[in-house]
Amino acid sequence: MKKILIINGPNLNLLGQRQPELYGRQTLQEINKDLERLAQSLKLSVDFIQSNHEGELISALQRAAQEYHGAIINAAAYTHTSLALRDTILAINIPVIEVHLTNPAGREDFRQKSYLAGAAVGLVAGFGPRSYELALHYFSESPASPLRISI
Ligand code: DQA
Repeated sequence: MKKILIINGPNLNLLGQRQPELYGRQTLQEINKDLERLAQSLKLSVDFIQSNHEGELISALQRAAQEYHGAIINAAAYTHTSLALRDTILAINIPVIEVHLTNPAGREDFRQKSYLAGAAVGLVAGFGPRSYELALHYFSESPASPLRISI
């Protein structure tokens, strides 16, 4: 069974009360419960990590490379700032999918840049919690090692 680690970054522990007009009313626990159910039906095994700390997200990705077949990451604001997270994704040999609840491309200028997108195998954004679900579907359907092209 494929093992996938789902990683959430800063402030996503506040989902449910954080700007619900943008991010919805579901808590991260509720979203993760739904993802767990979906994963079971897709015959995937999933684990979840949330951290507000950049270094912990980096360590989570490095650990994922040892124990998981793939990772899904919503790095939240670190998406737009963290060269270190990009380097980690490039350094590890498992596919990583970047996800966002909102569509940063339709938001403020400072959200237009993703340091992670070019290192990830793909990006799903703008579908609320469905973004994570679509990424899980990819892992359930994909061959073991998709092509990663990075510069
Ligand atoms: C987010 C988008 C980011 O720009 C923002 O900093 C977040 C959440 C999203 O899921 O839509 O914290 O990653």
